[in-house]
Amino acid sequence: MRRPVIAGNWKMFKTVEESEAFIDALAPLVEDSTHCDIVVAPPFTALSAVVKRIQGTRILASAQNCHWEKEGAFTGEVSCEMIAETGARYVIIGHSERRQYFGETNDTVNRKIGAALRVDLTPLVCIGESLSEREQGQTERVLETQLREGLAALTDLQFSHIIIAYEPVWAIGTGRTATPQIAAEAHRFIRGTLATFFSASLASETRILYGGSVKPDNIKGLMAQPEIDGALVGGASLKADSFASLVNF
Ligand code: 13P
Repeated sequence: MRRPVIAGNWKMFKTVEESEAFIDALAPLVEDSTHCDIVVAPPFTALSAVVKRIQGTRILASAQNCHWEKEGAFTGEVSCEMIAETGARYVIIGHSERRQYFGETNDTVNRKIGAALRVDLTPLVCIGESLSEREQGQTERVLETQLREGLAALTDLQFSHIIIAYEPVWAIGTGRTATPQIAAEAHRFIRGTLATFFSASLASETRILYGGSVKPDNIKGLMAQPEIDGALVGGASLKADSFASLVNF
């Protein structure tokens, strides 16, 4: 049985003060939500404050990015050791915005996964095709390459700690959600591909989240698909009541 995960990626939104107010508003709304893991990913500046604020709640915290080295002369970067020290439990790796604007590659995704696992952070690994890739019939090829290169050389044990997020780039921030059928089809392909890299039983246990314009009014249809194990949400995760209704889908 795969336990659902509902995760909010705040991207570059919320000051420390706004983050704390968000947690205070969200916590009572998800107090009884025992059916899924609840994750919020604030910007680095608010991560420690959020971890403190979620004590005693069912909410867990994630970073949005990491570096693969433990420390070093890498101006502006944050290591997985530093993230783990805050008490955060997850780290988003390979988000399409990082791939598109900040030079993230399948190779850096692979290194970052290794670094996260070293300190027991759960990697939330994002993959997804662009609109032109989908229109050219390249979706499966792109997903397969992102998985093969991003997860290269991982052992079954290492892989068992990973969560995959399928985020078609054309659905992110566009209001153009993948239909539950399109998302489920991609999830089936991803799971089938994982079963060729790792054991079939591990692939069947891997949680695969959908991301891309998930909103309170479309999450039910997505979560009704047995292949979809949760959601990674941007815009609709920024307001406590909206995120709570996603958690309580
Ligand atoms: P939106 O939900 O705003 O489309 O963003 C999705 C996303 O990128 C989550 O990581």
